[in-house]
Amino acid sequence: MAYFPGLEGVVVKETEICHIDLENSKIYYRGYDLEELAERSTFEETAYLLLYGKLPTRGGLEQFKAVLRGNRAPPQHVTAVLQHLPKSAEPIDVLRTGVSAMAHGEDLRDRSPEAELARGVRIMAAMPYIVAAWHRIRTGQQPLSPDADSHAEYFLKALRGSDVSPLEARAMDVMLIIYAEHSMNNSAFTAVTVASTLSDMYAAVTAAIASLKGPLHGGANVDAALMIEEIGDEGNVEKWVDAALAAGRRIPGFGHRLYKRGPDPRLRVLRRLAKELAYAKGDTKYYAIAQRLEEYVTAKLAAKGIYPNTDLYAAVIFKYLGLPVDINLPTFAISRVAGWVAHVVEYRRKNRLIRPTEKYTGPIGLKYVPIEER
Ligand code: CMC
Repeated sequence: MAYFPGLEGVVVKETEICHIDLENSKIYYRGYDLEELAERSTFEETAYLLLYGKLPTRGGLEQFKAVLRGNRAPPQHVTAVLQHLPKSAEPIDVLRTGVSAMAHGEDLRDRSPEAELARGVRIMAAMPYIVAAWHRIRTGQQPLSPDADSHAEYFLKALRGSDVSPLEARAMDVMLIIYAEHSMNNSAFTAVTVASTLSDMYAAVTAAIASLKGPLHGGANVDAALMIEEIGDEGNVEKWVDAALAAGRRIPGFGHRLYKRGPDPRLRVLRRLAKELAYAKGDTKYYAIAQRLEEYVTAKLAAKGIYPNTDLYAAVIFKYLGLPVDINLPTFAISRVAGWVAHVVEYRRKNRLIRPTEKYTGPIGLKYVPIEER
């Protein structure tokens, strides 16, 4: 029996959602070049594309945005749950609890792809509120549900309680588009695995959030931000990296299971956006550190197939957007939920229980010894 550690190279499903062209360093969502979507579309339009398989008409988009607006505040008991949590709880864990709590009180018997898709859209709609409400609750403020045209603007306003500039709203929108989908990553696979038992969308997304939390996956955007803060100045980059590598540590924001021959294609968009924000804010320190990290770590580790990934510049962009560092991670989830839901719905249309196997390497035939004789 073939064994693939980390399931590397194993095809688990056929898909029409995302194509990664390693040869030409391109990513396509439903056939559309992600760089063009990041430049010309909005998160709502891209999410619609991922979920429904085609770009919306103007009317279709307005309807979709109205559904999102109408479901931004989750059922009331969800806010009540948040209000009872210890203030030290990590935002990604609270988001996981909040999405899980959304399921309670809903009739979940209809598990058809259509019913699950509608649930997925409601979850997507409510996630910015849950993350922002938690940040406000833990800092002694009232949760807000402000008026806003876009998901990105709503999230930033609900989090900060103040106005958001058009550049900031657009930067967050681009981040949400860029993070929305990335083929069979660990959290998408987790969501699909859970859904393959015919469990429900709340369960699948809750599990996906649990997967995203890990520092080898989404958690890297928090670690990358902490690293940049710790480095503090571009002049300290080399010393910091040398010490980390000498201690056998991995550098957050570098390395990827797929991109072993060059950097992640999304880096082009994120590097540009980080630079634009840095100059607009008149503070290039974090951008300069990330740039120096990119150069230095690539020079040291490219021979091993290690290049920068999205989380390096995502950390810089979120810093310029004023996000508290631990909010970086649930912000990734607010976006990636589009991909999770799309994969769950696609898989459920041709569902087959996911049940791999393993290779047993332990002993057999041991004789049972009563406890008093051991
Ligand atoms: N810094 C230093 N060395 C590294 C790094 C890194 N970031 N990543 C991998 N390596 C080394 C690793 O130690 C191994 O070395 P050796 O052959 O000497 O033992 C070699 O490179 C191959 O590593 P691997 O573990 O086989 O690679 P993988 O494909 O299983 O791991 C990864 C991919 C993302 C888990 C890994 O690169 C990593 O831990 N990166 C840091 C965390 C990170 O940035 N994660 C975000 C990933 S992209 C966004 C997302 O998916 O959410």
